[in-house]
Amino acid sequence: MANNDGLKLVDKDESGVDTKFRADILLGLSQAQKATPARWLYDDAGSQLFEDITQLPEYYPTRAETEILSSQGASFAEMIGEGRAVVEFGSGSSVKTPLLLSAIAPAAYVPLDISGDFLRAAAADLAQKFPGLPVHPVEADFMRQVELPDAVAGYPKLGFFPGSTIGNMVARTAVDLLRNMRETLGVGARLLIGMDLIKDTGVLIAAYDDAAGVTAQFNYNLVRRINRELGGDIPLEHLRHEARWNDDNARIEMHLVALSDITFTVDGRGFAMKAGETIHTENSHKFNRRTSNMLLLASGWEPQARWLDSAEQFSLLLAEAKPNRSAP
Ligand code: AVJ
Repeated sequence: MANNDGLKLVDKDESGVDTKFRADILLGLSQAQKATPARWLYDDAGSQLFEDITQLPEYYPTRAETEILSSQGASFAEMIGEGRAVVEFGSGSSVKTPLLLSAIAPAAYVPLDISGDFLRAAAADLAQKFPGLPVHPVEADFMRQVELPDAVAGYPKLGFFPGSTIGNMVARTAVDLLRNMRETLGVGARLLIGMDLIKDTGVLIAAYDDAAGVTAQFNYNLVRRINRELGGDIPLEHLRHEARWNDDNARIEMHLVALSDITFTVDGRGFAMKAGETIHTENSHKFNRRTSNMLLLASGWEPQARWLDSAEQFSLLLAEAKPNRSAP
């Protein structure tokens, strides 16, 4: 598949293996602290497991953000106004996106996603819910700067990035993404972005290590995927799921902890783990008012408004792409 620059988004070798997946996993498993990029958790099975996670009693972020979107429509309408082209980074949630679009009467909707299949399905669903709203899906890697369709060139833009997906990224990567969003959307654009809040550690740990074990299955699914797609023999029965709070970095980390000394192969390469050693599989950064403002400011976005749910667990922030001006 090709994006709007004609570059290949997913490159597969002769045996159908995603070459980037293999390279990322082999490099990640070769490090002193084994670590794999979180994006590889989201194959079809992983995406379904994440959907299941959003329904868990312990996993508050989706409900909290949805509460903000459903209760603050009047406030969004006032702060954002009508007639914007809404550019969603990711193919959109069937619940959150309609809540935003109904509140602000947009001129067009542009979902961006690397997966053409997800993108077309989500775009069709949205077009059906909002007859008359022009929908222009763009198949692209939104971590890079994206060329928007000519059809929306004349409209002021609103970027939408819900779900605290920004929290998956370390600060350096988050700033790269937010700066690319600013280039994609242009000076004067707004950005509505979800960021999960720092809170009681017990509440956070429970959200990422639920009683029903769905998050554990989500983590284990990465091992199943490696074993299946890269011909691995990682012994899943010798690994356990762990959710850790890293206070210095204000983030929840998901790890796979070795229960005993183990050896395994992936793609013909040998690896070993001592009992207690881990594979770090995901970060989920949490924010407060000051750290979320700092992240936006560091990326050329000036914070303008901030909304919380009634239990004050989650934040939605509105920011504006200001021109680069001289400042002290
Ligand atoms: C999809 C990245 C927002 O960090 O809360 C949920 C992923 N991982 N449970 C999050 C996730 C484990 C989720 N994000």
